[in-house]
Formats: sequence, structure tokens, C-alpha cells
Amino acid sequence: MNIDAKIVQRSIIGKGIAHDSAARHVAGEANYIDDMPELPGTLHAAFVLSPVAHGKLNGFDASEALAIDGVAGVWAAKDVPGHNEVGPILHGETLFAEDIVDHEGRVIAVVAARDFETAYRAAKKVKLDIETLEPVLDIEEAHRRKSYVLPPQEVVEGDVETALAGAPHVISGKLHMGGQDHFYLETHIAYAIPGENGEMLVHSSTQHPTEVQHHVAGILGVHANAVECQVRRMGGGFGGKESQPTIIAGAAALVAAKTGKPCKMRLKRRDDMVATGKRHDYIANWKAGVDSRGRILGLDVEYLARAGNLPDLTGPVITRTLTHTDNSYFIPNARFIGHACKTNTVSNTAFRGFGGPQGIITIEAVIDTVARELKLDPNAVRAVNYYGDETGDMTPYGQRVEDNRLVEVTDAVLGSAEWDYRRAEIDAHNAANPVIRRGLAMMPIKFGISFNLTSLNQAGALVHVYLDGSIFLNHGGTEMGQGLFVKVAQVVAEVFQVELDMVRISSTATGKVPNTSATAASTGSDLNGMAAFKAAMAIKARMTRVAAEHFDVEEDVIIYREGRVHADNRSVSFGELAKMAWAKRIQLSEAGHYATPKIHWDGKTMKGRPFFYFSYGAAVAEVAVDTLTGETRCLRADILQDVGSPLNPAIDLGQIEGAFVQGMGWVTCEELWWDKAGKLRTVGPSTYKIPGSRDVPPEFNVRILDNMPNREETVFRSKAIGEPPLMLGISVWLAIRDAIASIRGGVPQLDAPATPEAVLRAVRHAEAVIGV
Ligand code: MTE
Ligand code: HPA
Ligand code: MOS
Repeated sequence: MNIDAKIVQRSIIGKGIAHDSAARHVAGEANYIDDMPELPGTLHAAFVLSPVAHGKLNGFDASEALAIDGVAGVWAAKDVPGHNEVGPILHGETLFAEDIVDHEGRVIAVVAARDFETAYRAAKKVKLDIETLEPVLDIEEAHRRKSYVLPPQEVVEGDVETALAGAPHVISGKLHMGGQDHFYLETHIAYAIPGENGEMLVHSSTQHPTEVQHHVAGILGVHANAVECQVRRMGGGFGGKESQPTIIAGAAALVAAKTGKPCKMRLKRRDDMVATGKRHDYIANWKAGVDSRGRILGLDVEYLARAGNLPDLTGPVITRTLTHTDNSYFIPNARFIGHACKTNTVSNTAFRGFGGPQGIITIEAVIDTVARELKLDPNAVRAVNYYGDETGDMTPYGQRVEDNRLVEVTDAVLGSAEWDYRRAEIDAHNAANPVIRRGLAMMPIKFGISFNLTSLNQAGALVHVYLDGSIFLNHGGTEMGQGLFVKVAQVVAEVFQVELDMVRISSTATGKVPNTSATAASTGSDLNGMAAFKAAMAIKARMTRVAAEHFDVEEDVIIYREGRVHADNRSVSFGELAKMAWAKRIQLSEAGHYATPKIHWDGKTMKGRPFFYFSYGAAVAEVAVDTLTGETRCLRADILQDVGSPLNPAIDLGQIEGAFVQGMGWVTCEELWWDKAGKLRTVGPSTYKIPGSRDVPPEFNVRILDNMPNREETVFRSKAIGEPPLMLGISVWLAIRDAIASIRGGVPQLDAPATPEAVLRAVRHAEAVIGV
């Protein structure tokens, strides 16, 4: 389908249009599942969770809980009529623990009661019989014991041993990077409503309605056609609602099936944080062979990823780490290996960037370390390593970098951020100020767009034109605040050249568009936008035939403009044409389907073209570091991001700002902390610090690369935006390293997140080197 030729006018695409729910979000009028009017008899559910990280579950005694007034029942593994399964990829990942509990917060049972507080109170009264076992909590310990949830994955290119042996300099390092809680404002929730003849309607806060539908059906032991999953919007997902919602929806549906009553399950923040997965924390051990300019000749990286107790999405997360360890740099000889370490902590899952951030922070640490060891300018070391004519364009996993925008993007951001002037100014500041140090850093990103599992790259849409000319739009993508719905509505409005408010945005529903992929991998608008485009174009082609007949002209004379359909100087309204088409018994409805072309991936050789295209971006961050307290602030950030020809630059700017701040949170203040017994002690806003409004850089210059249509045929030549700019937040961490290096040169010993404690340790280390 040639996206360029078919629509000549651009009246809605490319406009900065507000999110369709923006006003309702701020007025509190946007409905979330917890706002839905409750049906009479609705039960509320709460989980019974394991208090220990590892143990043998001998059983439980629920008699005290069942005696509480208003409690409807307690259900566990043995009560599941179908399969006790919620694994997104593999079998054997149970909803309810069977004989072993393998992390603190492991779901053991579900309690339902007439109200929320009673359900929570009753859940606490269930007496568990658990024999405690020794937990494995440390990922290096798991690695030593060869305790993994999956076999290792390896990307190999060239001959790394020979490259390291022959390299003028061999530099190595180890990087610890923390995990991250999604901290969506709306915690996990589902509302299951039983119907007649075994039917179940499930409202779920999920990025993946199809997975909820299938797992609920599996749990209940019914066919998928008995279950419908609907979601109007989530109060944030960030990957945390890609696979995890089945746990909540499965339990709510089980209660509804058992009791015949509607059941709502909403997790308190603490339960959400202990029972559902997060970003994988990693350790990276690396060794780089470089020449005197810092050009990488060979790079060997071993990753230890914390899978937690189960695989969940760890396999593809590690794949994305291994396919993003190159970031923007040509690495002729590479060996990247990823281990999925099994620990007695909650199973980690998707989180914005999906393993990409862990790969990109690692290579950026490599570049920064190499530059500081060899006393070179880090940006010069970046530049000699960029993909390009002098180096090469082949990634270690076999995909060519075909639309390289690295030099353009990085040069532009260095210019707009006034790098040279500010570098000198900051160096002068540091020379005069021993306590408050400032730091400056630039980094590029190249992020691959497509699910790295090829089969997931497909989508469907359903478009109806009604006889008044209004349009109903449905597609498989879900809205989590990212602005997908308005973008897809813009695509449809553009096709028909009608006002945006003629397109009704509707809840995602498995009964309308089936067999969907999660809204994830930043592909929501690429996939669903294209499916909706194809559906709308098919209807328009039929309507155009009717119009041509009516005006007695050739079809190519017909023009759609401003809600009317024109033939030379005659016209009818879009609604009048719809009525004419109906009278001629023409179908005014269409289901569109889209599958991303060109991509393929061989999971055995770890080679192929996993990504349809790359998104590029670059950021410059400036920080201040208080060397007495370890506190840091980002004072200024300048970002330039490639979004192709944007569908909606206002939405895209919001995504860039939000992603940058979320990425900055990952590498600075967000720290997950488990005690020695494996209990998570950061379980709410009082102990887990996400960036607040005052952590946003006071000077925040965000720009979209002008006029750069995607060279691939994406919807209106746009590019994905959801995840890539998260990784630009790593520039803040690099700037903190730069500030610490200003104390006395050398390589800063700083891991991520750079909490005040971590910064103080690095400052002490830097001072110890010089004996202050
Ligand atoms: N933006 C908001 N406001 N809320 C979210 O939950 N999720 C992010 C990103 N932006 C998220 C968000 C993640 S992890 C992804 S994969 C994309 O949005 C998914 O949506 P898209 O494919 O439509 O960009
Ligand atoms: N991103 C998000 N989810 C996924 C991916 C991905 O690349 N691959 C499989 N599930
Ligand atoms: Mo995003 S982590 O792909 O949901």
C-alpha cells in the first residue's frame, strides 16, 4: 500500500492535537475501571500472598477468614476448573502457587468479600502453613549455582578473542544496574462480570486484552469465545501491564465463575509492588579492545539478568538487550551473552525499553570508561565509533543500519545545547567550586522498532461509517495515556477528510478485533494506525465509486475535503454520500489487518532483521552534584528526537518529556531494595522515590527532528515514539559521572541508580584516589 500516493491533503496528520481525553483526565471525568458503576452484588477480591521468599507450601487454614461477616469465599490452585496457568510465552507459570512459594508476594489464594476492606482484612486472616527454605536472592549467586529460568542467549559476530588479543588497549569493567517499578498511577485492576451459558466479560487494565481473554478462558476451562476482555484506558502501563494483568483478571474471573457474581479486584500499592514484576536489574561484565582513538575493535559482554522466579518475558527482554548493546556504534567483533538468573524474587517483566536500556547504559559506560582511561573526549570516542562509511553499517545481529541519522542528530543537539561554550563554563565552575560539582554529557540512541518476535508484528482494526456520516473506530491497540487513540483517529479522519470529532474512539475489545498483540514495543500506532488506514481506505474506495456514479465522473475526479465529497464544483456531504451508498446496498464497514513487512529473526543463530526501522535521538544533560550529601539535580536537558513525519507532534513531545524523566528516574532516584530475607522494603511512595514535578529539568528543550519522513512505508511515514526517549535519560547518569570525574580525573566508580548513597561512595572513591 503506497502511503504517499493515496492521500494528497494533510489536514489532520502532523497537527499537534490534544489527547482525546486530556480535558477529562484533568477534570477527573475520564473513567477508569474503578470508576465504573458497580453492579448489585459485586464482590471485591484480595490476594493471600506469601510472606516468605522461599518455602514449601503445605496448605492453609481459611476458617478465621471465612468466619468474617461478608466474606464470600477463599479459592486457590485446587479450585481452578481449567488450567492454573498465566505464562505469556511458556507453560507452567502458575497463577496460584501449588506446593512451593518462590518469592515474597507469590499469589497463594484469593479471598472475596462484599467490600474491598473486608476482603483485605480477611486475606490477612488466612493462616499459611509454610516450611521456610533458603532463598537465592543474589543474581551472581544464582549464576554460580547455574540457576536459570531459560538457557543463555548469545549474539556473536567476528572473532572477539583475536580482536582483544591484538588490541592496543584492553579495558574492562563491571556495571550494576537496578530494576524499576512501573509505578503507574492506577494499580492493577480487573472487573469480571459473569453472563449466561458460561460467558465472562472482563474489564481489565491491560496492554494485552487478547492474553487476558485466553488466560481467563484457560483458567475457567472454557473456549476463548466465551470470554470477552474490554479496556477503555489504563492509568499507565509502561510495560507493567503487558503480561501481568492475567494474574489479577484470572483471579477476579475465577471468583465470578465460582459465585456467579461480578467480582472486582484492585490491588493496593503494596500488593501491586510485591506481587507483580518490574524492570530486570542486571550486572554487566565487559571487556573491550580499543585502538588509540578509542575505536572499539572487539567487545565481550556477559549479562546477568534477574529473571526472578519465572521466565515471563525475560527471554525477549534479554534478546532486546543483546540487540541494543551496540546502541549507535559499529562493533566488528562482538560476543554478547545473556543469562536469565533465577532468584527468589518476583518475576520481572516488560518495562519501557524492554531490555534496551540495560544494553544501552552498558555500552555508554564502556564508551565513557574507555574515554576516561585513555584521556580522550567521550564525544570524540562516540564519534569514531558511530555506524557510518568509515566504520560499517552491519549490526552484530545481522541487520544493516540503512537510515543512519546519528551524525546529523548528535551534531544538531551539540549545537543547540551550546556544548563548547557550556563545557568551558562548567570546567571553570568546577575549578573554582570544590563542593558543588557540575557535569555535562551527551549521548545518542538508536532503538529498533518492532517486536523482536516477528509473529507479534500484526494488528487489526474495525471501522464503520454510519448513515449520518459519523465514524466508529475500533482497533487492537490499548490506550495507557500515550495518545494512541487520538493518533489512530487522526489517521481515519485524514482518510475521509472529516473533522476529528466525527470519529468515535471506542474501548478495545476482543469481541470486535481478535487475536491482537500487546500494545507494546512502541508499535501501537505503526501497527494499529496502518490496520485502521487499510480499513478506512477500503470503505473510501467503495464510497468513491458511488460518488463517481452519482456525479457521473471518473473516480479520480472525486475529492474528499472538509467533510464533503466534491466533483468539480458540485458536492455532497460525507453523510449524504454514506446514505447514497447504503441505498445502493454498499458495505460501509471494514476490518483491516496489517503485518509489518521485511522483518525476520532466527532465534537460534540470533541473526536476522528483527526491526523494521530504527528511531534515533540524542540528549545533552547538565547536572549539579553536591559532593557532601550526594544529592544531584538535572539542571538542563536538550533533546533532539527523530519521529519521522510525526502523526501528532504534541503527543510526541509529551512522550519524549515523560520518557526522559522516567529514564532519569531509573538511573538516579528509583531504587528497589530487598532485605536479607528477600522482602521488598520499597513498597510505596514513602520508600520508593519516583521523579516528582520538581525533578523535571528547569531548562528542558525538547525538539523533534524536522521534516524527516521514515524511509520505510509506515503510516504517513511516522516513527514510533513510546520507548526510545526513555534511554536518553541515561545522559543524566553520564553527566553525574562527568561531575565526579571532575574531582580528579579517573574513571568514576558509579553504578545505577546514582542515589545519594551511590554518589557519595563514588565521590569518596575519587577523593581516596588523590588522598583528600
Ligand atoms: N505513555 C504513557 N503516558 N503511559 C504509558 O503507560 N507506556 C510506554 C509508552 N508510553 C506508556 C507511555 C510503553 S512501555 C510503550 S511500549 C508505549 O507507550 C506503548 O504505546 P505505543 O506503542 O502506542 O507508543
Ligand atoms: N517489546 C515488548 N514486548 C515484547 C517484545 C518487545 O520487543 N517482544 C516480545 N514481547
Ligand atoms: Mo512497552 S515495555 O513495550 O509495554
